[in-house]
Amino acid sequence: MINLRQLTIGLVAAGFTMLAAAQQPLVIKFSHVVAKDTPKGKASDFFAERAAALTGGKVKVEVYANSTLYKDKEEMEALQIGAVQMLAPSLAKFGPLGVREFELFDLPFIFDNASDLHAVTTGAVGRQLFDKLGTRGITGLAYWDNGFKSFSANKPLKSPDDFKGMKMRIQSSKALEAQMRAVGALPQVMAFSEVYQALQTGVVDGTENPHSNLYTQKMHEVQKHMTVTDHGYLGYAVITNKKFWDGLPADVRGQLEKAMAEATVYANKIAKEENDSALEKVKASGKTQVYTPTPAERLALKKAMVKVHKEMESRIGKEVIDSVYKATGFDPSKL
Ligand code: LMR
Repeated sequence: MINLRQLTIGLVAAGFTMLAAAQQPLVIKFSHVVAKDTPKGKASDFFAERAAALTGGKVKVEVYANSTLYKDKEEMEALQIGAVQMLAPSLAKFGPLGVREFELFDLPFIFDNASDLHAVTTGAVGRQLFDKLGTRGITGLAYWDNGFKSFSANKPLKSPDDFKGMKMRIQSSKALEAQMRAVGALPQVMAFSEVYQALQTGVVDGTENPHSNLYTQKMHEVQKHMTVTDHGYLGYAVITNKKFWDGLPADVRGQLEKAMAEATVYANKIAKEENDSALEKVKASGKTQVYTPTPAERLALKKAMVKVHKEMESRIGKEVIDSVYKATGFDPSKL
């Protein structure tokens, strides 16, 4: 028989346990594949700080950088089963999820600058893409910039002909595959975490990335040449598990939305500076010859690659591509 004393001790102990549980912060695991010292790395750390401050410590965002928790493909699966709560995959990685329209961002030369791009991400197309994620159990929270890509290889890539037969690592996007095939290269889909070694061992000959990714993964140490083509854009969608997000207390969700809005302003502000400074560091390393194409060379590459837009209409949707042209004023027939 339990006596009164034992019952009191039991109740007090249970009370302490409940109190402790109530004071435990809610943990959000935020996984990504790049180094901490990149636009995405810095913005996710900034979000973690603001989330802690705005929720008064009720939420703890644990950021796992550099594929330490999950690699590209695994992280999408982990989000859907709720093993991780937040990710910021590049827009090139949503095709395998069945939302092919995201590949519009990978179309070569579709954006001339960041403001053209923002006209799309902050407009109707950006919203429609996020709506499509809902049926996959995912909520889109924000678009974060990285920047425009350069090509790298062990030989200078100046004209379309220079790409012939080159094994080029790409992200898992059919638009990128078509872009490489358009100049006779052989595209190889590979997780970001494996690129450095693949370049080092010659499994692939070259790749494309914004300078911050190239520099922080030390790709410039295993690539002798880099061409600053700005031929395509790489950015991110910050996403969360829908069930998890909808299940948060409304006040906490509101505070996290505010933290995300602040992190987005921060991300988009630092991205260009980070990429510019990475390019300077690559140049200073003396390990890679950095080449900026002449306007005529860039135009030749553009003409060779832009045909991919038409080719991808059946996958991405003609109306989606047309609405991007409308938002940015780009007209491929005028090239
Ligand atoms: C890549 O795989 O090259 C990029 O998507 C990596 C990243 O997240 O910036």
